[in-house]
Amino acid sequence: MSRKASRASLISLPLERSPGAPPLHQQLYSQLRQAVLDGRLAADTRLPSSRLLAEETGCSRNTVLSAYEQLTAEGYIVGRVGAGSYVSRVLPEDLQPHGSRGHAPAAALQDTGVETAAELGARAQAILARTGQQRSTGLSAFAPFSVGAPDGRYFPFDVWGRLAGRFWRAPDPLLLKQGDPAGLPELRQAIADYLGAVRSLTVSPEQIFITSGSQQALTWVCRLLLDPGDRVWIEDPGYSGFRAPLMAAGAEPCPVSVDRDGFAVEEALAGPQARLAVVAPARQFPTGAILSLARRLELLRWARATGGWIVEDDYDSEYRYAGRPLAPMQSLSEGAERVLYIGSFSKVLFSGIRMGYLVVPPALAEPLRRLRHAIEDHPPLAMQPVLAAFMKEGHFAAHVRRMRLIYAKRQACLRALCAEHLPEDVRLEGLEAGLHLLARLPERDTRDGGDRAVAERARTGGLMVQALSAYCLDPARRARQQGLLLGFAATARSEMPWAVRTLAGALGDSRSESRAAG
Ligand SMILES: Cc1ncc(COP(=O)(O)O)c(C=O)c1O
Repeated sequence: MSRKASRASLISLPLERSPGAPPLHQQLYSQLRQAVLDGRLAADTRLPSSRLLAEETGCSRNTVLSAYEQLTAEGYIVGRVGAGSYVSRVLPEDLQPHGSRGHAPAAALQDTGVETAAELGARAQAILARTGQQRSTGLSAFAPFSVGAPDGRYFPFDVWGRLAGRFWRAPDPLLLKQGDPAGLPELRQAIADYLGAVRSLTVSPEQIFITSGSQQALTWVCRLLLDPGDRVWIEDPGYSGFRAPLMAAGAEPCPVSVDRDGFAVEEALAGPQARLAVVAPARQFPTGAILSLARRLELLRWARATGGWIVEDDYDSEYRYAGRPLAPMQSLSEGAERVLYIGSFSKVLFSGIRMGYLVVPPALAEPLRRLRHAIEDHPPLAMQPVLAAFMKEGHFAAHVRRMRLIYAKRQACLRALCAEHLPEDVRLEGLEAGLHLLARLPERDTRDGGDRAVAERARTGGLMVQALSAYCLDPARRARQQGLLLGFAATARSEMPWAVRTLAGALGDSRSESRAAG
């Protein structure tokens, strides 16, 4: 890819030197950042070397380096050893689900109620500024169509409570001692058995690490494999929960399109090289696309040829309603040594359990074990024996079977109602598996707010609807990725008729508004 010539030296950087003026490195940082945000310094523009900019501005080289370091830490520029610094393609503001450009991180932090911004590390500041404060929608997490919430009312808490009592009323003294850095061996064995039986994955318990969910699993991948500045291909639209762990590692997330066949491997290969690709092949979030076999093999070839790594997030694969699942990438012979597999219990048990796991290739097991021991000793022991017994004694499989029937009926009901009430050009996607479906809207001009405005109107009507475009990092993709995520797992069938009619109303209003505007 051709790089734009250095243009930073062509823009004016007036520095104030009067007593009481902000420090020069702070002024340089603010002016360069503003130039990036307002487009005077476009993506991929090469910045002048620190020596040259120091000469041009009459500052010391350390002053320039300090400004560059802050811009790098916050994600405005990316530095390549020996190749200079470039303006990032994805700016921090783009990483916010509702990206709003033009706020300085410190200002954004004030919005989050963080008053000690200057004392925080630059990466923490950048993450806080990018994620913003969680705004309450005023709706319950179980309002119709909320995504990612399983129906906890059917969970066998009586069994769970009995098992917890068995382990913790009079605990085995061994349980009170230091644990294994990878997690309780019995739980890792139970997960290995489950993966073998259900996902055709042949892995040994030594390859499995218990985590507090998928995000922590990715955090360990980053600690083990990435250095600051490493590029990571991520799906766009994609799961926003994976961005912060990457940013915390100082990595550069590079968004790649998703189409009907999933992650667009050809597009990734044609762009700047990455060290890691994070994909959800079984069921891409949020589109539900399944990564085609041809693309899986292509990605594996890339990893082998370049020494790259693949994270396979096997999210939402437990609930399948139609067709046979493709084998996980880690089970393919080419994949075993380049793929790290992530699984989560958040959707199968209940979200608050915060448990998941990471399966690493055999060669990475011992290094990760030692790294984890050095950094956090071992994962908390309280829930591990309970979950191990829950799996070993068959309760886990029984719960999945039971919930699959319930969710299949809810999905069928939602599909029928959508077919009846929603306009014909709304297409339902992601129907084979998972706990939500995507109501894809036609590509549109987003000046009237597009899918976000529809989602907002639906929320006013009491529905917890998410807009597909809100999951896009690249602003240019938002007009093409228009749709609404409709979670059905925690929505009873009796609630669905009014919910779908309310949704149809929100869609109808948007049409009349865009006709009026046109
Ligand atoms: C794509 C994807 N992967 C994984 C998860 C589960 O994450 P965790 O285990 O951290 O709860 C989610 C949750 O919504 C998700 O959307």
